[in-house]
Amino acid sequence: MKKAVCPGSFDPITNGHIDIIKRAAELFDEVTVLVVTNPDKKCVFSPEERCSLIEKAIEGIENVKVDSFSGLLADYVKQNGMSAIVKGIRSSSDFEYEFQMALANRSLAPNAETVFITADPQNMYVSSSLIRQIAGFGGDVSDFVPKNIVLEIEKRLK
Ligand code: PNS
Repeated sequence: MKKAVCPGSFDPITNGHIDIIKRAAELFDEVTVLVVTNPDKKCVFSPEERCSLIEKAIEGIENVKVDSFSGLLADYVKQNGMSAIVKGIRSSSDFEYEFQMALANRSLAPNAETVFITADPQNMYVSSSLIRQIAGFGGDVSDFVPKNIVLEIEKRLK
């Protein structure tokens, strides 16, 4: 059984994340979407809120589950027998940042491969910070996040 983890801040989850998660679910037997702490970011949504939004956003995708973890991603990967860490790449700046983490994770958890999936062109400019900014000013985010969590995100960020 090949298990993969899709780690991230997901503050909040976007259509770009969902696309990567769905494509990872085609490649692996089981995919865990992992809400994990990024020490460089101060998140707006709590880990519980982010997990709850993800649960709703992935409804109907059979082999995907949600978890949260506070610690080194490499430790989670080893503790849970993950074969791969899946990351989405939108741009060359994403790649530079992710490449460094991939090399560090390879050293810390040599049994797991980092797999990069290129973003769908229509999601290349979509980011959690864009969602926070649009919804924060009362804008419509329905083009950028799954339909069944639009209202919850807009209400929370307004
Ligand atoms: O969505 P993000 O914020 O770009 O995701 C980055 C994240 C959370 C995956 C990364 O910061 C991470 O792996 N954090 C856990 C702590 C850790 O393992 N840091 C070392 C990474 S090599």
